[in-house]
Amino acid sequence: MHRMLTISLIIFLSLEVTAEEPNKVDSDLVPLPREVKAPKNNPTTPAKVELGKKLFFDPRLSGDDKMSCATCHAPDKAYGDGLALSPGAGGKLLERNTQTCLNVGFFKSFFWDGRAKSLEEQALGPIESKVEMDQDLNELEVELAAIPGYVTEFQTVFGTKPNREDIAKALAAFQRTLVTEPSPFDQFLAGDKDALSDEAKRGLELFRGDAGCIECHNGPLLSDGKFYRLGVSFKDEGRAKISGKKEDRYRFRTPSLRNIAETAPYMHDGSQKTLEDVVTFYFRGIPASGPDGLSLDTESLDFLSFSDIDAMVEFLKSLSGKAPKVTPPKLP
Ligand code: HEC
Ligand code: HEC
Repeated sequence: MHRMLTISLIIFLSLEVTAEEPNKVDSDLVPLPREVKAPKNNPTTPAKVELGKKLFFDPRLSGDDKMSCATCHAPDKAYGDGLALSPGAGGKLLERNTQTCLNVGFFKSFFWDGRAKSLEEQALGPIESKVEMDQDLNELEVELAAIPGYVTEFQTVFGTKPNREDIAKALAAFQRTLVTEPSPFDQFLAGDKDALSDEAKRGLELFRGDAGCIECHNGPLLSDGKFYRLGVSFKDEGRAKISGKKEDRYRFRTPSLRNIAETAPYMHDGSQKTLEDVVTFYFRGIPASGPDGLSLDTESLDFLSFSDIDAMVEFLKSLSGKAPKVTPPKLP
């Protein structure tokens, strides 16, 4: 009698555990919201978005008037540039791979090391950076104030002359509109069981199961927004450069996997050429520690039970949704 009770208790408990597992995992994978919420001090308005779009495409934002945001974040390249590393001011290569601006408004921190806390804070970085657009912000304000079209637009949108703070706000507002339409994966999550091929479904099972990807790649962007050391390379100290903490060395923000098939090459240094290469990198397994003895942040990965590289790549391809149509504007 006693024994019976124990056995049924064990059965009951184990049922509970297995019944809970898929639910927890499902709540980690959610559709992309259709809109980015704007901060209170920078509400999105159509006129502000239009102004931001012009600034985004305007090479006069750079020191030599040759480079715009869209030079590196090109609409026809999923708002990246297709390069491992892009040439910045004077043609010198930057140190990190260009990130996409698609769906970027859903992040809570920006850049590979998370050093900017808002899109407003992020926007002036590349303009001022000596290695990117190399533009003096005082000069930029003077330059834009001499363009009548911009003077009128800043007056209408902000009630001021062109100034750095409102340049940043307009750029941020434009980027918040770069939200992709539902991907096959979103349609699948919404209940359309045929939206994914059988191979992609197998990939999804691995992704949220044995391969452990979902530990870090979760939520609407398939990024937890946290920082990890995968040992991709040991040149760039990553997050440690801004936190000053030794344990943050070589850590980078988990990238979004939205439209990932369109933004090759991959990783913070652009060292992986294709999605097959990235998945093979994970599949081979990552050593437990780097050259300086720092342990890597990969305990959650169980590579032994993950062997279907093609299925994983098929799943990753299902994460692409159509980008909103943006035609390069006529500049004032
Ligand atoms: C010369 C190429 C280049 C130009 C020009 C450039 N960017 Fe970038 N962008 C990059 C690179 C490289 C990164 C990643 C840098 C890092 O993490 O240190 C990046 C990162 C970003 C991010 C962060 C994305 C994320 O996922 O956190 C945003 C947003 C962004 N850029 C917007 C802009 C805007 C707006 C402009 C124009 C004012 C601009 N960029 C100009 C190359 C460029
Ligand atoms: C421990 C957290 C973690 C786990 C688990 C994880 N990733 Fe990542 N992933 C990251 C980080 C961090 C990066 C960026 C690393 C870098 O550039 O140094 C990354 C990069 C990527 C990239 C390249 C993205 C880009 O824009 O360059 C892809 C694709 C990717 N991961 C897919 C996967 C797949 C598939 C799995 C499961 C096999 C997985 N990840 C498991 C954290 C993780």
